[in-house]
Amino acid sequence: MTAIQPPLSMLLELTHRCPLQCPYCSNPLELARADHELPTETWCDVITQGAEMGMLQVHFSGGEPAARTDLEDLLAHTKAKGLYTNLITSGVGLKPARLARLVALGLDHVQLSLQDAYMKEADRIAGLKGAFATKQAFAAEIIEAGLALTINLVVHRHNITRVGAMIELADAMGAQRVEVAHTQYYGWGLANRAALMPTREEVETALGVVETVRAHYRGRMRIDHVIPDYYADRPKACMGGWAQRFLVIDPSGDVLPCHAAKSLPGLTFDNVREKRLSDIWTGGAAFEAYRGTQWMPMPCRDCDRREIDWGGCRCQAFALTGDAAAVDPACGLSPRHATVRDLATSEAAAPPPPFRYRRMTR
Ligand code: SF4
Ligand code: FES
Repeated sequence: MTAIQPPLSMLLELTHRCPLQCPYCSNPLELARADHELPTETWCDVITQGAEMGMLQVHFSGGEPAARTDLEDLLAHTKAKGLYTNLITSGVGLKPARLARLVALGLDHVQLSLQDAYMKEADRIAGLKGAFATKQAFAAEIIEAGLALTINLVVHRHNITRVGAMIELADAMGAQRVEVAHTQYYGWGLANRAALMPTREEVETALGVVETVRAHYRGRMRIDHVIPDYYADRPKACMGGWAQRFLVIDPSGDVLPCHAAKSLPGLTFDNVREKRLSDIWTGGAAFEAYRGTQWMPMPCRDCDRREIDWGGCRCQAFALTGDAAAVDPACGLSPRHATVRDLATSEAAAPPPPFRYRRMTR
């Protein structure tokens, strides 16, 4: 049996609080309240443990990580441990003086979400008037500060025809990298699937546009494109494989193999308040459940892609089949593949229902 390698990085969901309400958010429907969040010293201890395990990167995420008033303390601690830092932010609510403090502390990289190329549409998706303009100003501050900027574009039926315009806008904002990610249907995204699902024709056109635009920007701006699962023939290696490279810690301190793992029934999650991170990574029940290839059903078990895509996405398999150990229906070899394509086709053909906006209800 191969020894378990330490993860490359961890994603810290510092909080579920967020000024935006994007209907495709991957946070769970049951959002963690502020009084359930880990305190500063526990986050710092977790970061120390991550460095001791040999991790290289820490991603500060949420919700909106800047909603935590101790973000500066956490960043300073992470830099003191020699780790690369990435801030995944909405750009809303992070004032210039605060960004300057984060830059002075050594922040390495910022990932900023962009909802659309058009202000009105972008603000409608974000559920916040003025969000688009605030993001433009924030991007300018990032570039002015000399930080590396990635723009995250989440694509769905309401903006897919403007994917080229969104990439052009990201270039105008000064991004070195763009991540074009078609909506993944977990959490709020799953609750809004019918409202977000594009048609197959729209997806194919968008794939062509991204290829053309990528050639245009080669050498100047990198464009990464995550192909949408519902119209794919083979699944992606979700999280680089379950318990292979990444871990996620949610606001309450539960350690997860992926951001949507709590949607899977029957898994138990260890908490950093009670167990050391290295023990959770190497022996935690949730990590062991789908690590490697032993758990795989046929045809994954005999497939030559089993250590490439690691069987796809467990959360998607559960959402679509009710069985987390099933072959990911995004795979053309899954017996449910055609059903999933039909479902996507019929949802995309129907008029979009109203958004169910992400909201803290308690
Ligand atoms: Fe991946 Fe399993 Fe499909 Fe093979 S059968 S491509 S391992 S999901
Ligand atoms: Fe959980 Fe893909 S989101 S395994």
